[in-house]
Amino acid sequence: MSAVIVTGTDTEIGKTVFSAALTGALGASYWKPVQAGTDDEGHGDAETVARLSGRPVLPSAYRLKTPCSPHRAAEIDGVEIDRDRLALPQVDGPLVAEGAGGVLVPVTRRLLFADLFAHWGRPVVLVARTGLGTINHSLLSIEALRSRGVPMLGVAFVGDAVEDSEATIAAIGGVKRLGRLPRLADLTAKTLAEAFAANFAVEDFR
Ligand SMILES: Nc1ncnc2c1ncn2[C@@H]1O[C@H](COP(=O)(O)OP(=O)(O)OP(=O)(O)O)[C@@H](O)[C@H]1O
Ligand SMILES: [Mg+2]
Repeated sequence: MSAVIVTGTDTEIGKTVFSAALTGALGASYWKPVQAGTDDEGHGDAETVARLSGRPVLPSAYRLKTPCSPHRAAEIDGVEIDRDRLALPQVDGPLVAEGAGGVLVPVTRRLLFADLFAHWGRPVVLVARTGLGTINHSLLSIEALRSRGVPMLGVAFVGDAVEDSEATIAAIGGVKRLGRLPRLADLTAKTLAEAFAANFAVEDFR
């Protein structure tokens, strides 16, 4: 099984939308190991990916009520997160797995997402904004992943083009710029698939 891990420089930057595009382009299945917080309809990232990709989504290992860091959401819900349940699921075909928040977000008080990624040993895509502050956030994230020996496919940007920031992150971080997903005014499965095809090379993710 081939798996691609999607992480990001922060929460709410577009990891799920990018994951949906990638899941669709690869004909993959999607997995969010820990979902902390859902919307008014009880929907989390998996439901968004199902809607925007039309691909199968696997049930999360943990679905927690409170919209905060998983380690704290689990404590509030009275749930103990067992890392044995966070093994990558076996599926036919490729798998796209999305972490919560950024790379140093605690899964538990003893386990950070970056450590879980290192344990999985599968290549990671870092999703980053293009706006002000992204050079610092991106380079910090790259350093944290590299220091743990996490293999990186590169950076996928989300937002308006900021050529110098994108090139600077790739050069100083020593990573590939995989492409940039523009903000789509009308976000549907169709517009997203078209935007991914126009701005990324799917072979970079295989
Ligand atoms: N390319 C895009 N075009 C239009 N809207 C987008 C795009 N990317 C993200 N958004 C919107 O921005 C918001 C945050 O995106 P998303 O849920 O993908 O972030 P996230 O990084 O996965 O957040 P979390 O840390 O909660 O998992 C959502 O409302 C989403 O619809
Ligand atoms: Mg998400």
